[in-house]
Amino acid sequence: MNIQTRSGLGAFGRVPTPNPLVHSFVREAQALLKPDRVVWCDGSRVEYAALVQKLVDAGSAIRLNEELRPNSILVRSDPGDVARVEDRTFICSRSRDDAGPTNNWCDPAEMKATLTDLFDGAMAGRTMYVVPYSMGPIGSPIAGIGVMLTDSPYAVANMHIMTRVGSQVWDALGLSDDFVRGVHSVGAPLSSPTAPDVAWPCNTTKYISHFPETREIWSYGSGYGGNALLGKKCHALRIASVKARDEGWLAEHMLILKLTDPEGRVKHIAAAFPSACGKTNLAMLVPTMPGWKVETIGDDICWMKFGEDGRLYAINPETGFFGVAPGTNDNSNLNAMKTLHGNIIFSNVALTDDGDVWWEGMSTTPPAHLTDWRGSSWMPGCGRTAAHANARFTAPASQCPSIAPEWEDPQGVPIDAILFGGRRASTVPLVMEALSWAHGTFLGAIMASEKTAAAAGQVGELRRDPMAMLPFCGYHMADYFAHWLRVGRKGGDKMPKIFHVNWFRKNAAGKFMWPGYSDNSRVLKWIFERCDSRAPAVETAIGRLPAEGALDTQGMNIDPTDLKALTSVDTDGWKAEVPSIREHFAMFGAKLPPELDDELNALAQRLG
Ligand code: OXD
Ligand code: MN
Repeated sequence: MNIQTRSGLGAFGRVPTPNPLVHSFVREAQALLKPDRVVWCDGSRVEYAALVQKLVDAGSAIRLNEELRPNSILVRSDPGDVARVEDRTFICSRSRDDAGPTNNWCDPAEMKATLTDLFDGAMAGRTMYVVPYSMGPIGSPIAGIGVMLTDSPYAVANMHIMTRVGSQVWDALGLSDDFVRGVHSVGAPLSSPTAPDVAWPCNTTKYISHFPETREIWSYGSGYGGNALLGKKCHALRIASVKARDEGWLAEHMLILKLTDPEGRVKHIAAAFPSACGKTNLAMLVPTMPGWKVETIGDDICWMKFGEDGRLYAINPETGFFGVAPGTNDNSNLNAMKTLHGNIIFSNVALTDDGDVWWEGMSTTPPAHLTDWRGSSWMPGCGRTAAHANARFTAPASQCPSIAPEWEDPQGVPIDAILFGGRRASTVPLVMEALSWAHGTFLGAIMASEKTAAAAGQVGELRRDPMAMLPFCGYHMADYFAHWLRVGRKGGDKMPKIFHVNWFRKNAAGKFMWPGYSDNSRVLKWIFERCDSRAPAVETAIGRLPAEGALDTQGMNIDPTDLKALTSVDTDGWKAEVPSIREHFAMFGAKLPPELDDELNALAQRLG
């Protein structure tokens, strides 16, 4: 590790960047947070190994069985720090109106005053790591740079896997001011560097604050996931969505996949789904249809910019998967299971007696004995889950067997189709093609998922989650819709086609009509062929649906009544949907782009 001591010089006498803006950022943070020392991270394997060792020595991580899960650790968080905290997430734009009705807003000066008080001495007794990272291939015209300061070695180790950390980032940054400044503290100062520490330091007070105009993130009190891995949701979505609006591109909560047909033709698809709708599974799909291939480019975030040919090109800004472990198994996602063979950070999963990991759904029969995510002895039938429902794996994307060869292409991949989707037991068909870019933007804007029995609230209750960006859009959602419409006008007929999919429709008996998983490749096939206007479609009131026989169901055992329902218009259902969409749109007041109102009125009229 290249260590800078309190005297300010690197251990090897080398300052890793001459950028004075970086130095003043680090110096000011150091003066406020008062860490015991400052370490400038170089992103090397040696550094990663030292971070892991530090976590093990501190009792924060357990090394897994080297034979079964090489170079992997299990970390257990504080039971009160297990997920992103949306109610403690703030968009601190100068004007409240810029944050819009879907974000928590706070005046930036007020938030900085609050956090300055909390940050004062917050890193006492700890090390402050300076983490230079690139979101996207270094030097790519689509990529972006951040510098994150943190007192969490767990966060740094995760950033190593999830982003490109290292000295090359300083070279790419040069003397530029174009970097996101992130400050993260777990909010647990120590009286001295040798004072006893807890395994998972954090604070019951939490703030995940974004200052979009100055491209800053200040995060306090949590060490977990999107609260602490600042490159992910904070930078790559909340701050980047604002930058994308200002600069004319798109920063989206989308997977990216490459689809190849039996003739070797290729299409690239980006897809947005709310949480718990199988994004990672779709990104790593193994098609049921012979000759078809899905390869993975990204599973969570997609940045798209216009190329010289006028098309949208996408990169995955991340280098790893921060995936939900429960429910992942050889059937739901074989490629993810293979990715997890080693070099993994597991968080809040269960530990087997032979030093490996387990979670609900990994196998049908759980092991006879486990240590659960809280560190307690666990046996089947004890009434508790062994892994936390939001237990995660942090895995290098390069280990994924389905990773596409061009996943790190700095130019990105040209996007042919954009998919929106949600979990809808009724009304919404298996797949529909938007009639135009504006209609597609409308379909994204009204996207919704129904609450399942496992979630709080009434079963079937709709949560509208426009473009799956509800918790991640860094500005007024109606301005975001307007941005989508603007980008569409710019790209004209070179824009990707937009589709809406729904794998979760149920029949009267409450059974899923569509098997999902690998069979979703059949829907991808129709979408692929629609991109070249080859597959037959019927224009309906809600969009273009597969014509009878156009969906490849060969070898499938699907009830013809279910298939019919999946591919036709539920006119009554959609009529009932119209007032709920009006209510949703009303939230945006005068800012709602008139084109979206027009789309809603046109839909109502077409439904009759
Ligand atoms: C995620 C999420 O963790 O969307 O990716 O919540
Ligand atoms: Mn996500």
